[in-house]
Amino acid sequence: MRPADEAREARYLKFKAKNPQVPFSRYLMERQYRNMRKGDQAPSGALRIALGSPDEFWQSGRAKAEKLMARAELAPSHKAIEYGCGSLRIGAHFIRFLKAGHFLGLDVIDGFYELGKRALGPELLSAKSPRFHVIDAAGLAMAEAFDADVVFSNVVCVHVHPDETAEYFRNLARLAHKPGARLLFNAHISDVPLRFEFDGWSWPMAFYKNALEGFALVRAELGRPRMQDGVQTAPVDFEFRRPSCDQFA
Ligand SMILES: C[S@@+](CC[C@H](N)C(=O)[O-])C[C@H]1O[C@@H](n2cnc3c(N)ncnc32)[C@H](O)[C@@H]1O
Repeated sequence: MRPADEAREARYLKFKAKNPQVPFSRYLMERQYRNMRKGDQAPSGALRIALGSPDEFWQSGRAKAEKLMARAELAPSHKAIEYGCGSLRIGAHFIRFLKAGHFLGLDVIDGFYELGKRALGPELLSAKSPRFHVIDAAGLAMAEAFDADVVFSNVVCVHVHPDETAEYFRNLARLAHKPGARLLFNAHISDVPLRFEFDGWSWPMAFYKNALEGFALVRAELGRPRMQDGVQTAPVDFEFRRPSCDQFA
């Protein structure tokens, strides 16, 4: 890790020693949100974008949202969950496209999606009635009962701390329980496990396949490889699918 990341890690370990019950994800997101509100350190562009102009907000996630919607063969009658929805630069496009009540956004804290709701505006919110919840027992139960056709998680997996990866994949699998449900997420892939930033992790292909036992791997689309700390990593867009009932017949 670079010295700046080592300093962040030292700060986190100090916090963890005093607050062992707070997971890394909540530590990080609460801190990023607080810093952003204070106008100190800005979080990543993906989270900050809802504070920009409406044009920037709608443009920033458009290409990725369109790609995800095409991959999912999304129809307005489908139900979609975004796991780690941030400030909705991607989710906004799903909300606009889907029938009212057919989008559910989940995130570690509510601060970023509340900014996204403001960027969507009252008219779209009232016409489409998207639902939002933090990732806790109630939110997960509600999301499971939502019976999603599509669950997607964009630029989240790479940030999931190893202490939380089992829970991350367990939750994704739980929410994509419907026979035939599609699970789309991106990640980083490498021959060996690698932490390449304070909050960046890359894993071998077998790690992802094992984590989603019970799903069929439909697609793993690799992006341009690059060297990180002497290890080659590549971004990867995954599509997994829950087998449909007739595949068991
Ligand atoms: C870079 S942002 C991406 C937001 C949004 N998906 C997008 O593409 O604009 C990462 C998001 O993942 C969420 N996140 C981080 N760790 C997580 C975890 N362990 N489980 C679920 N969400 C997590 C954060 O709260 C944040 O909203």
